[in-house]
Amino acid sequence: MTIDRRPDLSRMKGYHSAQVEVDVRLNTNESPEPPPPEFGAALARAVTEIDFNRYPDRSATALRAAIAADHNVRPDQVFVGNGSNEVLQCLLLAFGGPGRSVLVFEPTYALHTHIPEITGTKVLTETRNEDFTLDPATVGAAVAAADPTIVFLCSPNNPTGLIEDPAVLDAAAAASQGLVVVDEAYGQFSSWSAVDRVNDDDRIVVVRTFSKTWAMAGLRLGYAIAPSSVVEAMDAVVLPYHLDVVKQAAGVLAFDFRGAMEARVARICEQRGRIMAALTDLDVDVWPSQANFVLFRPRRVAGDVVWQRLVDNSILVRNCSSWPGLDGCLRVTVGTAEENGRFIDALKGALA
Ligand SMILES: Cc1ncc(COP(=O)(O)O)c(C=O)c1O
Repeated sequence: MTIDRRPDLSRMKGYHSAQVEVDVRLNTNESPEPPPPEFGAALARAVTEIDFNRYPDRSATALRAAIAADHNVRPDQVFVGNGSNEVLQCLLLAFGGPGRSVLVFEPTYALHTHIPEITGTKVLTETRNEDFTLDPATVGAAVAAADPTIVFLCSPNNPTGLIEDPAVLDAAAAASQGLVVVDEAYGQFSSWSAVDRVNDDDRIVVVRTFSKTWAMAGLRLGYAIAPSSVVEAMDAVVLPYHLDVVKQAAGVLAFDFRGAMEARVARICEQRGRIMAALTDLDVDVWPSQANFVLFRPRRVAGDVVWQRLVDNSILVRNCSSWPGLDGCLRVTVGTAEENGRFIDALKGALA
């Protein structure tokens, strides 16, 4: 039996990251360390108190309040989803769709294109400078000309690791009639955040996740800080009871372990410095990263070949070498000190 798919999606493949059985997995920008054991113990205690026969709090009141307090905004300026990808999907369900468009600056996070396509939203593409930066004037002109419903910025940008210049956000917001969404999945690894720029009179939305700095990729929890009218529109399209009761409890508890998160982020940033320094001494181009990953391009050996040689050493990095604008590039996630040591040694051999 075959049923015709939606014609606009008939050739679409899902979003996948190649998985290979290896000792050292440095390909999906997860935290190399789990949350502290005390977090698990506190969650186990909280789970015993849950009325599992009841639906969860549909408004996730406690979780929204905890996130709002952490960012010094109001709870009605917080939308929570099952990972930041679902938050992006709700934004597109509420504001995208046929006859509407998004503007992305490639290379950037693939889901900023994929989710609009799924929701029937047109994707307009501009290209970043050769060094992957953006010029405020160029961005302003591109936004004014395209007049999209949503402009996507990503800071730090995946997969390049660079932060967006705050002046770029200003230019995009000034030129836009729609929303400017800043994806800050890696926000706490970087030197600035657009969260302070969100207010009810402006058009800026910041999207964040518990998957990276909070070391909770398995929990699937992300959120947007947005003008309250935007949150209201997202609440209108999300499925009822979409956030299960365990997740809500876990998210609230996470904030009791903020200190552990900050210490982990500091360790990862230190290790990022170590990887950057090592790569700078090797025969590769490397881009300055403010995230928990580093993009690099081997100069004399093809990216595919280096990727395979690393796999042969039981190390998996992300092979971006066939992605538009990223010819020959690989992206390595910062791991533990031991994993990074293995990666650096194996890379030296792979470039030989
Ligand atoms: C820029 C960016 N945004 C969003 C996500 C999705 O994160 P989540 O696990 O919260 O869905 C990722 C994950 O890699 C990402 O790199």
